[in-house]
Amino acid sequence: MNTDCRTCGLTELKMLKDLQQEILRLKKERDVCILAHSYMSEDICEVADFTGDSYALSVKAKTAPQSTVVMCGVRFMAETVKMLSPQKKVILANPDAGCPMAEQMDKELILQLKESLPGYTVVAYVNTTAELKTACDVCVTSSSAVKICKALPTDKIIFIPDINLGTYVKKQIPEKDFQLVSGGCPTHARMTKEDVLKAKAAHPNALFLVHPECRPQVTELADYVGSTTGIMDFAEKSDAKEFIIGTENAIVEHLQYRCPGKKFYPLSKDLVCHNMKITTLMDVYNAVSGEGGEEMVMDEKTRLAAVKCIEKMIEYGG
Ligand code: 13P
Ligand code: SF4
Repeated sequence: MNTDCRTCGLTELKMLKDLQQEILRLKKERDVCILAHSYMSEDICEVADFTGDSYALSVKAKTAPQSTVVMCGVRFMAETVKMLSPQKKVILANPDAGCPMAEQMDKELILQLKESLPGYTVVAYVNTTAELKTACDVCVTSSSAVKICKALPTDKIIFIPDINLGTYVKKQIPEKDFQLVSGGCPTHARMTKEDVLKAKAAHPNALFLVHPECRPQVTELADYVGSTTGIMDFAEKSDAKEFIIGTENAIVEHLQYRCPGKKFYPLSKDLVCHNMKITTLMDVYNAVSGEGGEEMVMDEKTRLAAVKCIEKMIEYGG
């Protein structure tokens, strides 16, 4: 039996596939591009025009030809799209999807740091608010941080706000002076050396792939350290058959679909980002149909001041 929803008139959608088909139809009709971060669930990735890590999403946002972009990810990602494409309508599929790390610092603190360390370049992880970016010199993502910090024409870097990513980058570039600030991702920073030893004991033949937002005690034990896309590419291309995945558990699910002949184990069942998990396929439907989500609004002064470090990131990141 089909029943009609009293508010939107939509006939009850019994099957996930029906909802996906309706989203695909609507996005064509309404000239919408759906961008999905790799931490989104499989049903959302299936309807997206593009899925990837935060660097790839930023680059894609610049070139997507559609007039509207629906971002399935967290707030700073939708802000980045708006900064790069001010003429587009940019919608965050679920307005509650934030990134706790992006909110950890305030602009005043960065300005004080700059004053106390003259001559230093402020490198900001892209997981920062637009307001914070206005006080920074260049952005990086997990996949581009080493390349960009190496390429910068300076030896003095203040790296904010992720101390774990900063520590990892500093180790790869010992010739430069890094000043790190204490902050980070509550989801990845929760992982311990004991979690790794336990997972390795349970799966002695598995390679351990990890995100650089994890603590140094964890990344030191890895066979590969990289972004969400980096981890997926490594696992797909590797001849190994078993992998322990040290990043949000959505990546375990995606890899299971992509490589059914291989085995993927979460480093921990606690590796779940509740902010990434809040977006559902129904949110995507509501955003595409114009009934839900939040349109990103940014004053031009903030946008112009913040976009500079995103553009520099793309220039240095290639
Ligand atoms: P990626 O750049 O690897 O996609 O990471 C984004 C993020 O928020 C990881 O927690
Ligand atoms: Fe932010 Fe961590 Fe979630 Fe990534 S996993 S969005 S860094 S809280």
